[in-house]
Amino acid sequence: MHSLTELPSDKATAYDELATSLRALLAGERDLVSNAANMAALLFWSLRDLNWAGFYLVEPERGDLLLGPFQGKPACVRIPIGRGVCGAAAERCATVVVPDVHAFPGHIACDSASNSEIVVPIIRGGTLLGVLDLDSPVHARFDDADARGLEALVRIFVESLGG
Ligand code: SME
Repeated sequence: MHSLTELPSDKATAYDELATSLRALLAGERDLVSNAANMAALLFWSLRDLNWAGFYLVEPERGDLLLGPFQGKPACVRIPIGRGVCGAAAERCATVVVPDVHAFPGHIACDSASNSEIVVPIIRGGTLLGVLDLDSPVHARFDDADARGLEALVRIFVESLGG
């Protein structure tokens, strides 16, 4: 059993602790879906003020983002690259931080409780695998420290896949 501990309020320290937990959680397994599922659960149950945490994965045939492992309410299944916050992060291959989702043109509302959002692209060997998406009911929940911290966690996730 993996036990969850209360994270410190300093974000950089909290993400360092999450990185240690994530490495331990993913150690010895290379399966993308299993590791994404456990990472979504770790983030959802460790980080404060989240109402959704999960993955959209690139579907090879059409190139859309397809709903992957997540925690939270049921969500929209297919997002074309370039649409919504997830599609924007995928298109730019860059993290997108949205302090107020209602002010983001084209934002796709999956849970009416969401007010802010962060999406981090997942890139392996120059290929986009998908995105990590976190939603919060709190306005401006995510900042640069979250972006850097989550990007570090995504690197650990990509390393866990091997190859
Ligand atoms: N809000 C996202 C859609 C996914 S849900 O938040 C889970 C977007 O605009 O891409």
